[in-house]
Amino acid sequence: MKIAPSILAADLAEMTSALQVCEQGRADLVHVDVMDGHFVPNLTFGAPMVAALAKHTSLPLDVHLMVKDPDRLLKDYLDAGASWVTVHTEACAHLDRTLSVIRERGARAGVAINPATPVEPLRDLLPLLDHVLVMTVNPGFAGQPFLPYVLDKVERLRAWIGERGHATQIEVDGGIGEATIRQAAAAGVDVCVAGSAIYGAVNPVAQITKLRALAEGEQC
Ligand code: DX5
Ligand code: ZN
Repeated sequence: MKIAPSILAADLAEMTSALQVCEQGRADLVHVDVMDGHFVPNLTFGAPMVAALAKHTSLPLDVHLMVKDPDRLLKDYLDAGASWVTVHTEACAHLDRTLSVIRERGARAGVAINPATPVEPLRDLLPLLDHVLVMTVNPGFAGQPFLPYVLDKVERLRAWIGERGHATQIEVDGGIGEATIRQAAAAGVDVCVAGSAIYGAVNPVAQITKLRALAEGEQC
């Protein structure tokens, strides 16, 4: 199981420390939540912030764009050093074109779906998708409770990926922690984003290892 700490849940005035937690805890990715105040009510990190983060870590930056019409911002975030770029299907008019732009720049292209969005329309799009991010909370804020019914979509997605041998990875985001990560793993998730469960822990570095071990079925 890959673990992607969400730095939105860290002390926002201490971003270097937030990245050190990821490095020392051997996280697989650093999850960066970009919010525009329109698609979601919150407003967070601009492309200059992503560029600054990239200077302080060698880990891939997993940029989750919770923005309306992401096409107008893609180039800026790709130039800033995003390795994985995820756009919301609810925010895109021409998803095929958007995903192609991301891949042409050598980044991994993904689509996020809100809890209320059906996963079926993504089935034919799997060859274009390096990852699908299934939201397990309504996007906008860290620290919300996990919505277990969403795991049905993960199970369906896992089956389609297996049937056709796609390389698409499944990521979940929202409310993932000690109490929920096993369920996510059992449903077939490859990447777990975790914010509060890591940065709210007494020992955030050790918590990354603990979450991965729980997902992989070890007793902790
Ligand atoms: C929610 C964000 C998440 C959030 C996760 O809109 O996309 O990445 O930061 O935080 P937790 O793990 O606290 O739910
Ligand atoms: Zn996110």
